[in-house]
Amino acid sequence: MERNEIKLTIPSSLKNISLIRAMIKAYLEHEHIAKNDSFQLLTVVDELSTNVVEHGYKYNMGNIIISIIKNKDVISLTVEDNGVGFDDSKLSKENGGLGLQIARNIADSFIIEKKENGTIFKLVKKIQEVL
Ligand SMILES: Nc1ncnc2c1ncn2[C@@H]1O[C@H](COP(=O)(O)OP(=O)(O)OP(=O)(O)O)[C@@H](O)[C@H]1O
Ligand SMILES: [Mg+2]
Repeated sequence: MERNEIKLTIPSSLKNISLIRAMIKAYLEHEHIAKNDSFQLLTVVDELSTNVVEHGYKYNMGNIIISIIKNKDVISLTVEDNGVGFDDSKLSKENGGLGLQIARNIADSFIIEKKENGTIFKLVKKIQEVL
C-alpha cells in the first residue's frame, strides 16, 4: 500500500453511504483537491456505493471496500464488493440507470472487473489541486 492510499471496509447498508462520503470528502480535502473535482468524485462514490448495497448485496450483509489514492494530479478510486457479480446483459436495457453513466462521464477511465464473487469498479480521474 502506498503511503497516501487509504482503504475503507464498511458494512453494506444505505445508512453508511453518508459515512463513506464524509470519509472520502475528508481525504480529498486533505489532498487539496479542487472543490469541483471533489464534488464529482463524491457523486461517483455515492452512486457506486449505493449500487453495492442495492445490486451487489441486494440489501444482504457484506462489505463495501473502497480505496483511494492520489498520485501527482491523478486520483484512482476503486469500489469493490463480494456480492452477486455484475451482469453486462442488464446494461442494455433502454431505461438503464444513471449511476454508471455518471461514473463514465466524470472519469478519464472507468472499468468494471468481474471477480469470482463480486465486482470491482475502477475509476481514474485527472484532478486540479488547490494551493
Ligand atoms: N455492485 C454491483 N453489483 C452487481 N451489479 C451491479 C452493481 N452495480 C451496478 N450493477 C448493475 O448495473 C446496473 C446499472 O447500474 P446504475 O447505477 O447505472 O443504475 P441503477 O442503480 O439501476 O439505477 P440508478 O443508479 O439510476 O438508481 C444495475 O441496474 C445493476 O444491474
Ligand atoms: Mg445505481
